[in-house]
Amino acid sequence: MKRVSLTQYLVEEQRQNNKIPAELRLLIEVVARACKSISHAVGKGALGEVLGSAGSENVQGEVQKKLDVLSNEILLEANEWGGHLAAMASEEMETIHPIPHRYPKGEYMLLFDPLDGSSNIDVNVSIGTIFSVLKAPDGMQEPTEKDFLQPGTKQVAAGYAVYGPQTVLVLTTGDGVNCFTLDREMGSWVLTQRNMQIPADTKEFAINASNARHWYPPVKRYVDELLAGKTGARGKDFNMRWIASMVADVHRILNRGGIFMYPADAREPDKPGKLRLMYEANPMAFLVEQAGGAATNGKQRIMDIQPTKLHERVAVFLGSKNEVERVTGYHGE
Ligand code: AHG
Ligand code: MN
Ligand code: MN
Ligand code: MN
Repeated sequence: MKRVSLTQYLVEEQRQNNKIPAELRLLIEVVARACKSISHAVGKGALGEVLGSAGSENVQGEVQKKLDVLSNEILLEANEWGGHLAAMASEEMETIHPIPHRYPKGEYMLLFDPLDGSSNIDVNVSIGTIFSVLKAPDGMQEPTEKDFLQPGTKQVAAGYAVYGPQTVLVLTTGDGVNCFTLDREMGSWVLTQRNMQIPADTKEFAINASNARHWYPPVKRYVDELLAGKTGARGKDFNMRWIASMVADVHRILNRGGIFMYPADAREPDKPGKLRLMYEANPMAFLVEQAGGAATNGKQRIMDIQPTKLHERVAVFLGSKNEVERVTGYHGE
């Protein structure tokens, strides 16, 4: 079998299909290199003294794990000097991070969730990194938070890495979804799945069912119907999976279908869900749509939402199209 590396794949996209500019290709390579470093740190675990809490809190009020902080630093350092970025933003930083003036400023902006699935770090369960790439608005001088507030449809690339039994990188530049596996000995990303597709129908769903008593009626109705199985309204049995790392749940869905839900609920009526629009929901929505699936907040397409703040939260329903459309439909009734 001929091995195609990430570099070769990106060069071909740039050259043959004219799908991506050279600058974007370089940016993606740098992000992939940073993910390789994070994968290395994750793999060392206790031996690398990377487990446990950092003793600090992020802007979301979450206790930061050492790996949340380390992964954020790795991504910042890797991406600062390349000349392709104007600014970065992250789950772990309160405000945006403009590229320091000692480096040339590029035309792209990078957003990331440096370490997704923090509660799984210390128990050796799959975790990951999620990223989204936007273009800086025309004529932008000093980047501000406002420049980042673009709907998901404006993303020019998105992807994630999963640090699991294998380390994989899943990527879209708007030309389908491809998966690369890290060859640890060679240190290179090898194309292992082309054009991933999510089946429109599924018998698998993912939701944190411990919140069931707080769910709003449309979600309760939908999940009750799934749980009723063969003899209920749906006429078939469904299986449930919940990893508590969105990257790992989405990776399963890209491989074999399913629906992932993190709804808003009655615990905090003012909070539109737990997950973050800009660096969790939007990049995953881009990937899922590029693979033939759908992603909504229960009412509208996630990628059409006009963000109003950097750390905005959003309800998420994504995955197999027919299921996402069904639960979205229940919200309209
Ligand atoms: P993060 O670790 O980046 O803060 O994100 C965690 C998210 C997501 O990965 C996962 O699906 C969800 O939180 C898990 O939530 P529960 O703790 O409710 O299971
Ligand atoms: Mn977090
Ligand atoms: Mn996350
Ligand atoms: Mn995170």
